[in-house]
Amino acid sequence: MLIDIHQHILHQLDDGAQSFEITKKLLLKAQSDQISDIIATPHAIPGMEPFDLIKYYEHFQMAKEWLRENEIPLRIHKGAEIFYTDATVRMLNEGRIPTLAGTKYVLIEFSPRASFDMMCSAVRKLGGAGYSSIFAHIERYQALRKLSNIEILKDEYDILMQVNAETILNPVGLMEKLWLKKVMKEEMIDIVASDTHNLGSRGNVLLESRNKVAKMYDEETADKLYTKTPGIIIRKSK
Ligand SMILES: [Fe+2]
Repeated sequence: MLIDIHQHILHQLDDGAQSFEITKKLLLKAQSDQISDIIATPHAIPGMEPFDLIKYYEHFQMAKEWLRENEIPLRIHKGAEIFYTDATVRMLNEGRIPTLAGTKYVLIEFSPRASFDMMCSAVRKLGGAGYSSIFAHIERYQALRKLSNIEILKDEYDILMQVNAETILNPVGLMEKLWLKKVMKEEMIDIVASDTHNLGSRGNVLLESRNKVAKMYDEETADKLYTKTPGIIIRKSK
């Protein structure tokens, strides 16, 4: 079974699913793609845009109830994709943004042009407050095109690195293709997630990408990226 820690599956919370009907279709798609667990991660931009926690809980509960009523053996967990700002740690401490599945893991996003120093400063602050960072779609960050920077973040700060399934399937341009080959070879990626937003151009291609990894590398690598490492978060969930 696959575990997807990054999905914009709940309706009308961000640029993800725009109706409950779409949420239901995305849940069915996940079930047919052998996904056992989804963490619902709408965008949060602390201090810049309000995060409506009540609406989040309501829509989360709707999805959970629907799965139960239809006896679909798929679990969903709370979470958010948090754009790092100066207010991030405070809002996490105040419980105003969900961590991943009630654990101390947080899914962190940066601007594509964020500097490496800024990233280090962010993870120091998050780590100091007891949070373990998972960087969302690291293929987007210029600072992480340099492999030694990824190495520092992993070795010194224990950061987990997530890549989107679509990138595994279709890296954009030669530079991204070469970068992906290197980070895969050096085992710098920890988790592949779908970052599903809709049923169309940003749909769920997690299973297809897993099949590609298993074919290009091996089953063990695919298990690690799609089940074992994301499974660590789910096992620690409350
Ligand atoms: Fe996302």
